[in-house]
Amino acid sequence: MGYFDPEPKRRVEDFFDMEEEIDELKRGLGASKLVVVSGLRRYGKTSLILTTLNDMGASYVFLDCRLLPSGMISASDILYILEGELSSKPWFRELAEAVEGVQVGGFGVRFRRRDYRTLVRVLESLEGRILVFDEAQELRRSRYRFDYLLAYLYDHVGVRVILSGSQVGLMYKFLRVNDPSAPLYGRPLYNVRLKPLSPDRAREFLVRGFEQEGVEPPLSAIEEALELFDGIIGWLAYFGYSYTRLGLKDPRAVLGAAARLAYEELEHALRVFAAARPRYAAVLKVVAERGEARWSEILRFVEAELGRIPRNTLSNILRNLSDMGLLSKTEGGYRIPDPVLRHAVRRYLRLTAT
Ligand SMILES: Nc1ncnc2c1ncn2[C@@H]1O[C@H](COP(=O)(O)OP(=O)(O)O)[C@@H](O)[C@H]1O
Ligand SMILES: [Mg+2]
Repeated sequence: MGYFDPEPKRRVEDFFDMEEEIDELKRGLGASKLVVVSGLRRYGKTSLILTTLNDMGASYVFLDCRLLPSGMISASDILYILEGELSSKPWFRELAEAVEGVQVGGFGVRFRRRDYRTLVRVLESLEGRILVFDEAQELRRSRYRFDYLLAYLYDHVGVRVILSGSQVGLMYKFLRVNDPSAPLYGRPLYNVRLKPLSPDRAREFLVRGFEQEGVEPPLSAIEEALELFDGIIGWLAYFGYSYTRLGLKDPRAVLGAAARLAYEELEHALRVFAAARPRYAAVLKVVAERGEARWSEILRFVEAELGRIPRNTLSNILRNLSDMGLLSKTEGGYRIPDPVLRHAVRRYLRLTAT
């Protein structure tokens, strides 16, 4: 495996060293029972968490919350992904005998009942381990208050929890750490924020990645890729993969393919807005086309395209898009932080779904 392999990295050997971030995460795990790893999609959160935990030789349980069904989530849905993950852990098989309602066999681990009490009991049995909820903002769609369960673990169970999220605003809304009436209020948590690579680090990532593949692209291709993909490690890896494995050597062509992918993800994300989708699309459109757009410019464009829109409705749309990490606020207004998404919106997004 090399840097350009598309799966999240798990081993230090395959991991382009983000030494500072690894140290941060380790420090966080030493300092607090709740660590939050945030950063937009493809900034390398999953890779950082898995590589760090493996490097520490930590005993952990990793739950990918994207595997949860759409709509409201129940305890049973979480138990279902726990079954899959715990089946692969030899230590849990030994421990499982003692947990009521758990069956262990050649099939792996099965929970006889899939209710809230079982979920609590299983989580209690993870004493001493690290529990990771990847893409934790999905837990906000829970039928019961998952934040209470996290607060219970925090207060009464010796497990450390890592929450990671790409939709950073949504994740913090779910955690409500600054809301005195929320269960997690006042519990210190440790934040690890991932950022894009600096231009120098990004260049180093590409150069070393190509070396691993024994390929030497022209310098101009590297420079262009750095321009197009900023320092987003996931897109840089995608470029390297496309170049070396798919023979797609023109960075602009790779940008097109990447934008197609970003566009599919965007359409999926916009589905929740149903009938309001055209307004969301119009906001993204004007921001993408201008590069950066002020509130008043956005308002003018949306009204010209779709007719009058109440001011507070527009504010809500801007807040939701920001919470999802699709927009970010700047001094001059709003922009789309991901250059590939910016390109995707310009090129593929239509105001009305086709
Ligand atoms: N430190 C790293 N070294 C090498 N490749 C990385 C590194 N971090 C991320 N990647 C690659 O970038 C892509 C996105 O990484 P991932 O960890 O899935 O990001 P996130 O969880 O933030 O969306 C994957 O292809 C992954 O292999
Ligand atoms: Mg991830």
